[in-house]
Amino acid sequence: MRTGGDAGGPEFFRKGKTHMAQALVGIVGWRGMVGSVLMERMAAEDDFAHIEPLFFSTSNAGGALPASIAGFAKNETKLLDAHDVGALARCDIVLTAQGGDYTQEVFPKLRAAGWKGHWIDAASALRMRDDAVIILDPVNLPVIQNALAKGWRNWIGGNCTVSCMLMGVGALFKAGLVEWMSTQTYQAASGGGAQHMRELLRQYGTLNAEVRALLDDPKSAILEIDREVIKRQRAMSAEETANFGVPLGGSLIPWIDKDLGAGKGRDEPGWGVSREEWKGMAETNKILGQGEGFGTPAVPVDGFCVRIGAMRCHSQALTFKLKQDVPVADIEAMIAADNDWVQVVPNNREATMRDLTPVAVTGTMNIPVGRIRKLAMGPEYLGAFTVGDQLLWGAAEPLRRMLRILLQA
Ligand code: HSE
Repeated sequence: MRTGGDAGGPEFFRKGKTHMAQALVGIVGWRGMVGSVLMERMAAEDDFAHIEPLFFSTSNAGGALPASIAGFAKNETKLLDAHDVGALARCDIVLTAQGGDYTQEVFPKLRAAGWKGHWIDAASALRMRDDAVIILDPVNLPVIQNALAKGWRNWIGGNCTVSCMLMGVGALFKAGLVEWMSTQTYQAASGGGAQHMRELLRQYGTLNAEVRALLDDPKSAILEIDREVIKRQRAMSAEETANFGVPLGGSLIPWIDKDLGAGKGRDEPGWGVSREEWKGMAETNKILGQGEGFGTPAVPVDGFCVRIGAMRCHSQALTFKLKQDVPVADIEAMIAADNDWVQVVPNNREATMRDLTPVAVTGTMNIPVGRIRKLAMGPEYLGAFTVGDQLLWGAAEPLRRMLRILLQA
């Protein structure tokens, strides 16, 4: 039986790896939506064969492991207290999908206690720290390796929209072709959380129920149906819109997250920007290892982030100003060759409708990129459209891949 590290950890990395000792990996937030997807992916990729997992809980410390994770356990079969710094400090690696509030509370205490393990986190709380890397290894493995060589230990998953976008069109950035990019997003309910998905579906159900009799009557007037729907949408109670704040079913919301632009001059770039939109430029450049902190110019990225009534796939329309006129066929070839998951969808109606929708992509690792074409503004202006499952490449997958990178480092 493995005895675990001292409070200074991480024993696995300090003493070197042996076949006997497996890295102790503390897993926090395994029950939530992102955590559940993470557990599914770790099981599918046999990650548990390479670690000794310690499952932490914020609500049921000391309890038995529930059936959903019991099969992954080795020596440690009880839930540990996710606020117990001593218990966390035994871990070589902590992997958390518990959320930003948990990170803000526990991470500083753990580091203050002298813990030197690796912290892998899905939340945004630590993303922009100077000693943290935003992890997306198919795009930025050199940035990760460089940080590993410097002894860095904070590995943070990126914003889902940014990660899915870079999995699709990262090749153009890596080739240094992008002068600027503008994004218009179509973000799914899951980006808000599980309760947001439930609320969306309840709203759809409410609206359908409101006009069911009229819908069943083929002779009813569509404008009457429309009147009844908008009346019901506008009458939705605070309870019916508790998560999104306004109806999303049958509508959209062109603002995601906080207002970061308040206080800036109306004519300055950055005025009126949402936090989600701000992340587009800040995180894209940080993932690529360029811009502020890297001593190189940042590529401007800006646009509008919009919540729509999809379940868990974020979609986005992209406009690029390229630094030169590159033929579409070359661009398609670069994108297609960039990683194992990106797929170029031919820019025609049939392929687009079949392969470039949230319904086609949900639950898969595929990152289709389509609608690739030169725009009317000139030969350096390129359009594209991409879709990604925000719970997979947008959240869980970069975390479990970082775990594997650390185990092999
Ligand atoms: N902020 C994203 C959204 C989710 O609201 O869709 C996670 O990055």
